[in-house]
Amino acid sequence: MLRFNPYSAAFDADPFPVYRALRDEAPCFWSEDAGMWVLTRYDDIVRALTDWRTYSSSRGNLMDEFPGRAGNTLGSMDPPRHDRVRGIISAVFAKQNLDHLAGPIRALAQQALTDIGDAERFDYTNDFSARVTVGLLSALMHLPEHDHRELREQAVLMVQSDPVTRRKGPEHLAAFEWMKAYAGRVIAERTAQPGDDLVSQLLTAEVEGQRLTAEEVQMTVTTLIMAGVESLSGFLNMFALNLADHPDARRRLVADRALIADAVEESLRYNTTAQRFRRFLQRDVELHGQTMKEGDFVALCYGAANRDERKFPDPDRYDIERRPRLHLGFGGGVHACLGSSIARLATRLAFEELLEVMPDFDRAEATLDWVPSSTFRSPLRLDLVR
Ligand code: HEM
Repeated sequence: MLRFNPYSAAFDADPFPVYRALRDEAPCFWSEDAGMWVLTRYDDIVRALTDWRTYSSSRGNLMDEFPGRAGNTLGSMDPPRHDRVRGIISAVFAKQNLDHLAGPIRALAQQALTDIGDAERFDYTNDFSARVTVGLLSALMHLPEHDHRELREQAVLMVQSDPVTRRKGPEHLAAFEWMKAYAGRVIAERTAQPGDDLVSQLLTAEVEGQRLTAEEVQMTVTTLIMAGVESLSGFLNMFALNLADHPDARRRLVADRALIADAVEESLRYNTTAQRFRRFLQRDVELHGQTMKEGDFVALCYGAANRDERKFPDPDRYDIERRPRLHLGFGGGVHACLGSSIARLATRLAFEELLEVMPDFDRAEATLDWVPSSTFRSPLRLDLVR
């Protein structure tokens, strides 16, 4: 019997056979485990992404949403409010000069590698990917170094759910409250003493006479820290894992660094961290012989769409020259990821540095523990050997 259980460790370890069975046998599937419909085919998901009136984000886009978050963050509001808020936040993002970020990203990666030194085996998740991503976010927001460890710990907790109760547990709710309070403190500081950092810019940005409200700035900063820290370090983990599991691909990147950008795209397709987000139905929808009812939730499984053979030939093959430009690793439609350029740049530069000093690496353990998250998928810890 088909099951889709995003709270199961076995599913986290390898969701792809389940995705394939769902695409083939039940492309519009009611999951008792998740309490929502599940879409797994590429075309169905792209159609949903282009129809926000039907597939609304306004009740929250995380599979397990935090109370009070839905409707208050960019990812959990619909147009026209979404257009206004996204217009302002995009304007702030457009001001970040990616060329100026290159130096700090390389420096962060180099420092992490220096500290790892000659160790034969090391904790790549904490000693490399977390340091690069928290460092990058701190460079953007001017956050002090003594906060880095706690920011990372709280961001990881925020993306988790309790596998037993199948919802956010007290520690995950507390992490969300901690992050909101942290964002509030940073905002108070920047209000008193504005700088040229991203938070100060969010506070003052104006597009067509419109500004963000105080609450919108706080929720934006809270979400940006979560996305900037955990989506990105989760992806750095997945990229390393993909290259560890495909040594031929890794050797080709070492020989020709120009291929790293293509390998990043293929990893976003093949095996990425943003596996699924949810939507809320604002009308009945007939699909593949099923009737999804107004008021039901629907999981859009980007990770499954990216392996749909109807779209990507031989989808289970990791091919760094595939150039899958229309993959859904960053979602799509009005909610397409706003941090995609920064994420692409950070991954490429971090790996240029990593492969320079560590051209041969492998994973230390055959089996991994996964972050218990119903939305994201990445290893809790990835040890590498060289
Ligand atoms: C490789 C790393 C990342 C991945 C795989 C990723 C993936 C995604 C995906 C799939 C969505 C769409 C969510 C939905 O459909 O509801 C999204 C939205 C978003 N992401 Fe990312 N993300 C990454 C990094 C980042 C970074 C570094 C930032 C910011 C610093 C960021 C900021 C955002 C924001 C603000 C949205 C909401 C956009 C909207 O709703 O209009 N992301 N991301």
